[in-house]
Amino acid sequence: MATPTIAQATIPAEPTKTMSSTVTPVTDLEDGPLFPASLISPEVISLLPTDYTIRPLRRSDYQRGYLDVLRVLTTVGEISEEQWDKRFDWIKSRNDEYYMLVVCDGADRVVGTGSLIVERKFIHELGMVGHIEDIAVEKGQQGKKLGLRIIQALDFVAAQVGCYKSILDCSEANEGFYVKCGFKRAGLEMAHYY
Ligand code: ACO
Repeated sequence: MATPTIAQATIPAEPTKTMSSTVTPVTDLEDGPLFPASLISPEVISLLPTDYTIRPLRRSDYQRGYLDVLRVLTTVGEISEEQWDKRFDWIKSRNDEYYMLVVCDGADRVVGTGSLIVERKFIHELGMVGHIEDIAVEKGQQGKKLGLRIIQALDFVAAQVGCYKSILDCSEANEGFYVKCGFKRAGLEMAHYY
C-alpha cells in the first residue's frame, strides 16, 4: 500500500498570539474536519450571509475564537491550547457520536456554533436520538438567522446519520427561538448536579 503523503501547509504559517498564549502551527493532517463535510446541508450553506461559511469543527478553531463564542452561553474557564487539543482528540475519536459545527464570518472568525450528540439506544429497534447542545452565536452577530441555520444544519446531520428525533433543553427565554426552528415543548427537564 502506498504511503500517504502528508501536506505540510500550516494554519497559520507563523505562530500567532491568541488568548494570551503563543500557539504552535497546526499541520493539515491534524486539522481535518471533526466529521465529514458532506454531512453539512448544501441548502443551509446557500442560505448563509455572503462570505459566511458553516462547517465541521477543526482543531485550529481554537485560534479562531471558538471558546469566546461559547462564552455568550455560559462560563468556559481558561482552557490552554494543550487542553483543547486533548479534548478535541477525544471527541474526534468518537466522531460518529459528536457532531460539532461552526459558522465563520468573512474574516474567518468563528461567530457561531452548535453540537449534536448522537445517543444509540436499544428501544425503538436500536433507535438513535440526537441531543442538541451548546448553541451559541456571538452577541454582535445575533439576529442574522445564524442560530436558525445552525439548528437546520444539526437537524440535517441528525436525519442523515439516522436519528428518529432530536431533543434539547433550553430556558423559557429561548423557547420562542426553538419554536421558530420547528421544535415544540415536550416533557420536563430535571437535573441533579454533582
Ligand atoms: N426568543 C424568541 N424568538 C427568538 C429568540 C428568542 N430568545 N432569539 C431569536 N428569535 C427569533 C428571531 O427573531 C428569528 O425570528 P424571525 O425568523 O421571525 O425573524 C428566529 O428566532 C431566528 O433567529 P436567529 O437570528 O437565527 O437567532 P440568533 O442567530 O440570534 O441565535 C441564539 C439565537 C442562539 C439563542 C442566540 O441569541 C444566542 O447565542 N444566545 C445566547 C446563548 C444561548 O442562549 N444559546 C441557547 C442555549 S440552549 C441550547 O444550547 C440547547
